[in-house]
Amino acid sequence: MSEYLDRAFSPATLGKLPLKNRILKAATYEGKTPDGVPGDLLLDFHKGIVAGGTAMTTIGYCTTEADGRINDQMLWIDEVHRPQLTRLTRELKKVDPAVRISGQMAHCGNFSKNRKLQRLQRPLGPSRQINMIGLPSGMPFAGAMTVKDIDYLVKTYHDAAKLMREVGFEAIEIHFSHGYGLSQFISPRTNHRTDAYGGSLANRMRLPLRALAAVRDAVGADFPILGKMGMTDGIKGGLGFDEAQQVAVMLDSAGIDALICSAGTSSFNPMLYFRGATLDKGMIEVEKNPITRLGLKMMGPKLFRHYPYEELYFLEDAKRVRDQVTCQMVYIGGCTELDSLEAVMREGFDFVQLGRPLIKDPNYVHNAMADPNYRNGCSHCNRCATLIEAPGGIHCVENEGSAAS
Ligand SMILES: Cc1cc2nc3c(=O)[nH]c(=O)nc-3n(C[C@H](O)[C@H](O)[C@H](O)COP(=O)(O)O)c2cc1C
Repeated sequence: MSEYLDRAFSPATLGKLPLKNRILKAATYEGKTPDGVPGDLLLDFHKGIVAGGTAMTTIGYCTTEADGRINDQMLWIDEVHRPQLTRLTRELKKVDPAVRISGQMAHCGNFSKNRKLQRLQRPLGPSRQINMIGLPSGMPFAGAMTVKDIDYLVKTYHDAAKLMREVGFEAIEIHFSHGYGLSQFISPRTNHRTDAYGGSLANRMRLPLRALAAVRDAVGADFPILGKMGMTDGIKGGLGFDEAQQVAVMLDSAGIDALICSAGTSSFNPMLYFRGATLDKGMIEVEKNPITRLGLKMMGPKLFRHYPYEELYFLEDAKRVRDQVTCQMVYIGGCTELDSLEAVMREGFDFVQLGRPLIKDPNYVHNAMADPNYRNGCSHCNRCATLIEAPGGIHCVENEGSAAS
């Protein structure tokens, strides 16, 4: 085994948390929490990931409150789920006591089609806008948060982080990217506020930094906090690379333990962070709402712009961010084959997060450690991502019929 693969499979520490290797499961909302409850479906999926040798699994898209959900099937972090969350972390530890469990904290902001809002009348973001995703479900408008709403949102980050720590999560990843709540504030495309939360980058970062401070306050100094940030929205008027580098510096200075650099937004151009086959065709197949289906047919090609897949598609940009910060760096994006893993390690990244490669082969780490010629073989058909709202949630369609599906 090469020196760099050896590094990938050797113990490391994330902040102060010892990990058995440098390979982490990326946050992939799996659609396995019916009615928002983290039960057996979710547990079984992550048991598979844990059994495969990954050092840390991440429960994707844990929203900080019920109204932070894009749809009403998503998990929200709340006292009502304390028993199930405790069971989830406890059972995963039984599979491998050395594994670490992280949760990605997210809030959809105004990107919501959740008709079962509890606290709010309609989804709220930084500024008023048409709610494209909510349109087919009869929620055509999103409102602007008042400062009171912002204060409340910050508190949800605090309380959710506290609960996550109490139920056994050992790290938290804050979602600052992909066009969801916090990223809507960072992006000049979606934040048109004229108060202390809009305008300059310092103002647009005010809420994200408050959320980070609230999470830190809740979990304490020694608990690792990762941040997933966007390096560009990839759209006119959106967050650009130069500002994103400053975002990284701000998060670093504010005490984030590690950064994960992605790009693109679910609302405008999701394919920037997926690459490969576009999602619209598969989404049309599983979509039940006829209006959404029609919308996808009409808007799909524009929304799901094609970006060809290449291995390590974020590497060069992520290296530029890495050079600006002192915190640890987690590489994400198209690290499918072992040559790529080797390259990421050679470039000095501390960890790598794998999304689709672990959906394709949860046993990636054990298989790769046993066989230097291991090939993962994920084709980036992206069908897994079209299944997030299908019954039972995601699986790798290429594995259908085999034990790994
Ligand atoms: C099925 C699926 C669901 C995803 N859900 C999330 C999510 O909840 N949060 C997030 O930050 N990224 C999400 N992503 C993006 C991945 O975390 C990752 O950024 C992307 O897949 C690129 O990494 P990969 O090439 O290793 O798959 C999702 C990806 C897939 C395939």
